[in-house]
Amino acid sequence: MANVIVVGTQWGDEGKGKVVDLLSEYFDAVARYQGGTNAGHTVVVGEEKIVLHLVPSGVLRKGKICILGNGVVIDLPALLQEIDQLVRLQVKIDENLFISKNAHLVLPYHKLLDAELERLRGGRRIGTTRRGIGPAYVDKMARTGIRIGDLTDPTLFRERLRANLEEKQAQFPHHQELRELDAEKVAAEQLEQFERARGFLTDCSLVINDLINAGRSILFEGAQGTLLDIDLGTYPFVTSSSATAGGACTGTGVSPTAINGILGVTKAYTTRVGEGPFPTELTDAMGEALRERGQEFGATTGRPRRCGWFDAVAVRYSARVNGLSALALMKLDVLDACERIRICTGYRRKGEGYQDFPNETGLLKECEPIYEEVPGWNESIVGTTSYDRLPARCRAYVERLEALTGVEVGLISTGPRRDQTILRATPAMRQWGLAR
Ligand code: GDP
Ligand code: IMO
Ligand code: MG
Repeated sequence: MANVIVVGTQWGDEGKGKVVDLLSEYFDAVARYQGGTNAGHTVVVGEEKIVLHLVPSGVLRKGKICILGNGVVIDLPALLQEIDQLVRLQVKIDENLFISKNAHLVLPYHKLLDAELERLRGGRRIGTTRRGIGPAYVDKMARTGIRIGDLTDPTLFRERLRANLEEKQAQFPHHQELRELDAEKVAAEQLEQFERARGFLTDCSLVINDLINAGRSILFEGAQGTLLDIDLGTYPFVTSSSATAGGACTGTGVSPTAINGILGVTKAYTTRVGEGPFPTELTDAMGEALRERGQEFGATTGRPRRCGWFDAVAVRYSARVNGLSALALMKLDVLDACERIRICTGYRRKGEGYQDFPNETGLLKECEPIYEEVPGWNESIVGTTSYDRLPARCRAYVERLEALTGVEVGLISTGPRRDQTILRATPAMRQWGLAR
């Protein structure tokens, strides 16, 4: 069986939740490898819509092992709330959930700092989700972070927390709420909540490698997307973790040699939440129409998502840095009513053409998309499950995206539900046992 990484190829919200929920049926375990509650992964089962922030999207499948890797940052109260929500839905997690002891904690002061740093950035703000993600990863990199496993030693935990909080308070002496945070109280709350999470702690690398050695298959679930990756994204308008495929290995303690393939999740158009350059953004009625038809409002913050045409330059870049084996093309139905559809095939800036995604964000901001226009199919494809049943113009669109990105489209999503999906018998899909 195959070990496959599911990665976002754009600026997040591509539909990773649906893909992971759907494909987890074919895998033994699902492991999240980075990010935190900034992620909002939507899973629709029947009439029920469930938004997951931390727990892997495989959790709704009976008996699947769900793992939170060392690369994830954990907001303990948020995790417990999510677990409570799952319990209310009668999802069994007691024996299936594993949390890496080495995952870092997001603490109350990280959230205060996230908001404060955004305020101080003023017009240069990133538009973060204010979930404390950046500051938590800053502490991890500064080697002052606190890992969830540290909660097993209350004395050490209290000491570290006090030192960290004092440091932040000294850095922001005028921040009232930060000043009022009491280290002892925060520590007591975390320690109390930890009692409900203690049983899930594990050596995640050991668990996953044991599973792999026993012939079990792992689906790695990425959060955010390639263009939000701390190294490879549109810096500084990015998140603070390694959202690309490489992050799956460092974020779980698994070797690159254990990975059999990479599935890139992409929308049939493009969206972005927060600030930063977005060459194909539509600020006109078409952008508004995409937002309405695609219900493009953030799953975590409810913010309206910026919408635009498919950017083949960006997805080609994602194909390169992730080594994509196949694409999952999501929300194709959202384009149903388009008379004509545009695809960005290259950029132009100051008379110069670009075929490769520029690494300099300042430069990207000045890039104008070069469009190719294709006719829309003008009929509903909602719920279509067979490739052959798609209108010819719709298939032509899919095949044009394959040609422009250089990656086969192995999965096509025609609606939010599990059964609104086409699995194509492409080489990668067959190799992974997902299609015959
Ligand atoms: P993620 O963060 O990548 O998991 O994506 P989100 O859950 O934030 O956003 C994707 C949204 O699109 C969710 O509301 C899904 O229910 C919805 N969705 C997924 N696939 C499709 C599809 O093929 N068609 C439509 N109309 N909606 C979809
Ligand atoms: P999923 O997993 C879309 C964006 C924020 C902001 C930037 C930094 O659901 O695809 P952060 O809070 O991470 O410091 O914010 O990244 N962002 C996302 N956008 N989907 C996400 O997750 C995102 N997680 C963060 O809007 O621009
Ligand atoms: Mg999302």
